[in-house]
Amino acid sequence: MNFAAQITGTGSAFPQNRVTNDDIAAKLARVDVNTDDAWIRERTGICERRLSKPEDTNEHNSSLGTAAARNALEMAGKTPEDIDQIIYATCSPDTLIPSTACWLQHKIGAKQAWAMDINAACSGFVYALATAEQFIRSGQTQTALVVGAEVLSPFLNWEDRTSCILFGDGAGAAVVERVPAATPQRILSTHLHSDGDLWNLFFIPAGGSNLTVTPERYAQHQHTMKMNGKEIFKVAVRTLADFAKRALKANDLEITDLDWFVPHQANRRIIEAVAKRLAYPLEKVLMNVERYGNTSAATVPSALDEAVRDGRIKKGQTVLLDTFGAGLTYGSILLRW
Ligand code: UT7
Repeated sequence: MNFAAQITGTGSAFPQNRVTNDDIAAKLARVDVNTDDAWIRERTGICERRLSKPEDTNEHNSSLGTAAARNALEMAGKTPEDIDQIIYATCSPDTLIPSTACWLQHKIGAKQAWAMDINAACSGFVYALATAEQFIRSGQTQTALVVGAEVLSPFLNWEDRTSCILFGDGAGAAVVERVPAATPQRILSTHLHSDGDLWNLFFIPAGGSNLTVTPERYAQHQHTMKMNGKEIFKVAVRTLADFAKRALKANDLEITDLDWFVPHQANRRIIEAVAKRLAYPLEKVLMNVERYGNTSAATVPSALDEAVRDGRIKKGQTVLLDTFGAGLTYGSILLRW
């Protein structure tokens, strides 16, 4: 028996706390760092983002993931007991041990499942969905829950205006089910790649086993992101276009066959540059970066969820997920909805 994987439900969830560019500018002004709403809007397209309150357990990473998962399960008509595999994409886990996937399993009560995390930074959801598809196609998994969720705010340096303005917290999820291979509505292809040689374009020095966080390193912000934004911008435009083309070529499709393009939401200007390279109309690109900023592994599933729920994405349409992230990591998934 040959199998394919179909997304049958999507969900998303965000923290309550809405933080505007003006709020960020005021926060940075207290440490004598200048930024303003006009600069952030013009250079990134971001107007606001949501930031978790650490003291609110409902806004922990796994809590946002659980809320997104519940929405996805409801859409799919499934219960937590139906899930046999949880793949949780995050680079900002609740705890190093146990995995955030196990925290979600505990919170949602998915007693039949096995659970694991994947860290591919902003490419996490695409990596996780591609992994679930392999388990489903091999026949091992009937129903997978794939989550992309982040609480990045504790890893931001609020004195570095080139990075802290970009990121937000949030979660997206998908229920993925086994269907017969010939089912038209299925994942059509997955393409993944990484380039560890580019690790130093985006990393967090301390907090892992080779450099623990000490009071001194904390004071030096070594537990926060170090990012070469300019270089990442260039690599991102090139690789997003490249991975879109790989997906289309593998399926013998043209860019005009694509109904919706769902790129990683890092910066509106990156998305516009990629659409231009692909000669693809911006009206058919899903975007939520203006409202949530870059939520890393959560951007693709949350943008997908919005468009599924408001009816833009319709049955039978061709949808391309396309991403890049720290690592660096890249990937695209083409699917028929
Ligand atoms: O998921 C992957 C995560 N990372 C990314 O995707 C990052 C991709 N890169 C970017 O989004 C952009 O490169 C940034 C938004 C980070 C920066 O935008 P840019 O248009 O590349 O600006 P720039 O680095 O060329 O800086 C231009 C100027 C500089 O001033 P000078 O040297 O010309 O005087 C910066 O210091 O803008 C200054 N600047 C700011 N000014 C006000 C940088 N950040 C800010 C800021 N507010 N927040």
